[in-house]
Amino acid sequence: MNENGIPKQQIINELEDRLRDDIPFDSGRILGSMCTAPHLFAREIFSRYLEKNIGDPGLCSSTRLLENEAIGMLGELLYHRGASGYIVTGGTEANILAMWTALKAYKNRGNEVIVPVTAHFSFDKAGDMLGLKLVKVGLNDRNQMDIGEVKKAINGKTIALVGVAGSTDLGIIDPITALSEIAQENDLYLHVDAAFGGYVIPFLKDLGYALEDFDFRLPGVQSITIDPHKMGLSPIPAGGILYRSRKLSEAVLVKVPYLSGGENAHATIVGTRSGAAVLSVWALLKYLGISGYKKNVEKCMDLTFYLKDRIAETGDIEAVMNPVLNVIGIASPTIGPDILSNELRKRGWAISLFSGHIRIVIMPHVRKSHIDRFLKDLKEIAALIKERKFG
Ligand SMILES: Cc1ncc(COP(=O)(O)O)c(C=O)c1O
Repeated sequence: MNENGIPKQQIINELEDRLRDDIPFDSGRILGSMCTAPHLFAREIFSRYLEKNIGDPGLCSSTRLLENEAIGMLGELLYHRGASGYIVTGGTEANILAMWTALKAYKNRGNEVIVPVTAHFSFDKAGDMLGLKLVKVGLNDRNQMDIGEVKKAINGKTIALVGVAGSTDLGIIDPITALSEIAQENDLYLHVDAAFGGYVIPFLKDLGYALEDFDFRLPGVQSITIDPHKMGLSPIPAGGILYRSRKLSEAVLVKVPYLSGGENAHATIVGTRSGAAVLSVWALLKYLGISGYKKNVEKCMDLTFYLKDRIAETGDIEAVMNPVLNVIGIASPTIGPDILSNELRKRGWAISLFSGHIRIVIMPHVRKSHIDRFLKDLKEIAALIKERKFG
């Protein structure tokens, strides 16, 4: 640390220079992220309310009321206006909270949680932190959690099931209706991880896409993760955890007596919490409304199918399945995904490598011109594959 302060402009110049290796969304190079450039209005709200700490709810009682309203709006989207919950730091915190809640709710029964093999790594973190045993079950021929395997995996120590609505690897929606029935029959907690799909599936359904149900209309569903900082266009950090009842949302409540706003209680993992994040979620839900978010999702889906249709033209690279949401897996029958990923990275693409494919997520920052540039590089790589330039 320097002894004396440095002029602002000098620091800004240094930052501009030293951040040169970071890849911005408007470079058109980020095709693998589930985050995106935050909406301008949400940025405005975020910077206006930076000082608010909703971790001291007595100081921010109005912000806390608006958080409840934001949860209510998200609850409406998920068919449960009366849902309780919080705007948290992201999908990881939301999933860990759900697992903590399940453990509390069934603490005398056991510690086993059944998840699909495709579940996000936040469940591994939750397992490690909370002493849960994760039982990972395989997939059916549509890449969804296999219901037969779920039934076989249940035993006396099982406390919860997790289904994913918009999986990390391919945007798959698990058979949540069947999971809900199994959860009810066996008295198990059912959590749905819709961190990505929560802001996508309801709008696509409205647009006429035939997609699996995943929300609170299914009576076994006890909690849902839905992330504003993914397809919700809100600034990071903004995840959402919604519970069916207030009782569940308070299962992990810890009293905090010393707060400046007066004694209160926390039911999130972090203490100090960004009120700015909460208010930007609230403001953007109001500003865009259903029709705004629908337009956003429609554009992403149109571009997803544009990419999918043209990938076939490359010959040696293909989509691994028809996209369900705005996530598309690509692979080559000739070279491994690691080689394909290296070739794409060499050409400057920020994509995601999974065990059997490369994941492309068509987020709101992705334009047709970016996809055209990407396709040009894919064709070049396909030509190299034909010339047997690899291995
Ligand atoms: C399905 C799913 N759940 C949870 C998460 C974790 O979200 P975050 O990175 O906001 O913690 C992700 C991240 O991509 C995800 O795809």
